[in-house]
Amino acid sequence: MAQAIELVITGGLLVTPSGIVRADLAIDHGLIVAVGDVSDYRPANQIDAKNLVVMPGVIDTHVHFREPGFPEKEDMASGSRAAALGGVTTVFDMPNTKPATTTVALLQDKFERAKQRFFVDYGFYIGATPNNTAELVAAEGLPGCAGIKLFMGSSTGDLLVAEDEEIEPIMRATRGTLAVHAEDESRLKANKKDVLDSAAAKGECGVHLHPCYRDVETAYRATKRLIDLARKLNRRVHVLHVTSAQELPLLAANKDLVSCEVLPQHLALSAPSCYDKLGTLAQMNPPIRDAEHGRALWAAIRNGLIDTVGSDHAPHTLAEKGQAYPATPSGMPGVQTMLPILLDAVNAGSLTLERLVDLTSAGPARVYGIKRKGRLAVGFDADLVLVDLKKRQTIRNQWIASTCGWTPFDGMEITGWPVMTILRGMPIMQDDELLGSAVGQPVRFQKEEVTG
Ligand code: DOR
Ligand code: ZN
Repeated sequence: MAQAIELVITGGLLVTPSGIVRADLAIDHGLIVAVGDVSDYRPANQIDAKNLVVMPGVIDTHVHFREPGFPEKEDMASGSRAAALGGVTTVFDMPNTKPATTTVALLQDKFERAKQRFFVDYGFYIGATPNNTAELVAAEGLPGCAGIKLFMGSSTGDLLVAEDEEIEPIMRATRGTLAVHAEDESRLKANKKDVLDSAAAKGECGVHLHPCYRDVETAYRATKRLIDLARKLNRRVHVLHVTSAQELPLLAANKDLVSCEVLPQHLALSAPSCYDKLGTLAQMNPPIRDAEHGRALWAAIRNGLIDTVGSDHAPHTLAEKGQAYPATPSGMPGVQTMLPILLDAVNAGSLTLERLVDLTSAGPARVYGIKRKGRLAVGFDADLVLVDLKKRQTIRNQWIASTCGWTPFDGMEITGWPVMTILRGMPIMQDDELLGSAVGQPVRFQKEEVTG
């Protein structure tokens, strides 16, 4: 007799680890129980995915949901609604909140707040400081802790571990994923004088200066220092938001120890046009650079060097962004627009669907050691996004669910759109509408077996 199960998804084009195949999916208790032949099952529900691509839900390992501290920008509920609308089923939230997440107690406070607030599954980073190593060690073993975030250069908030002598003990003491914002603080300080202050003295301070202030050398020096430390200590590191052509050979030569992330903003936008068009809405750290860097990042995506694409969803209010540069905060929202932008790139021929899935689900699962997520395979969570590759839609501010209410991509015409998001077998978004409630849970990690 046919076995009763929750759901089958029929007729879709599945992006599986063994290639793209037209097949059915059977789902029960939130897990994928069959790929291919589902004739043995009697499903309670059925979804027709004819003409749709079925891929693993996007795992966005880089979001700033701003809770606690900045409800005017975002909170866990609004940020994770935006995620679900954009085909994202898992997010890892950054620690530069107020207070910054630098202790086990503050991390636990985030897990408490997260209950019944998240529309997608989640993990949290703990933030490194020059003197919280014991907290980092205790926190990184906790279920749901995605890893450690370390800022080598100042950005939004005051988390900063600038010196090698401060970074090294953290790298020695900890074992989990160390995700690093690599901009060199001493270069930033010097450039502030040489670039920003001297321009201001001539009455010339505009956001076009941002990539001159936070120049390629700033990124290169930090990435080089980080890789030298990783080599010295034989310690794995994950370099966040790589932006320059110059960093790429360094990363490639050290692939045994170093994984890396690229953001859609650095692929889809370039200087100077982004600053002409968007002004300070395009201001972020590390900055949007000239198109030659974007082209190099695309090549690195295609040749396999890049492991993950994350959104660096970093909302600020329009009022904050309306101040005069450099008083304006850096960062832009992105969790909702990441997948549409990448799907558009697939249609434009810049990226294959297989590579997209590797960068947005299999890659994050591999780098962070996520259990049971990131691939369409039996035994994995049924976290899915159904995509209409032919659907043309224009990104609009009105569609944005983030509290900030804007996107740098307002007006961008996209071909390829997420039409349904499914979290552990539960549809949570259909046709740009949210379904259901905040059923997100903490992500589980492989390390939990090791560290208990
Ligand atoms: O542009 C950025 N915004 N870069 C960061 O490093 C932090 C982020 C934020 O939190 O606003
Ligand atoms: Zn970030």
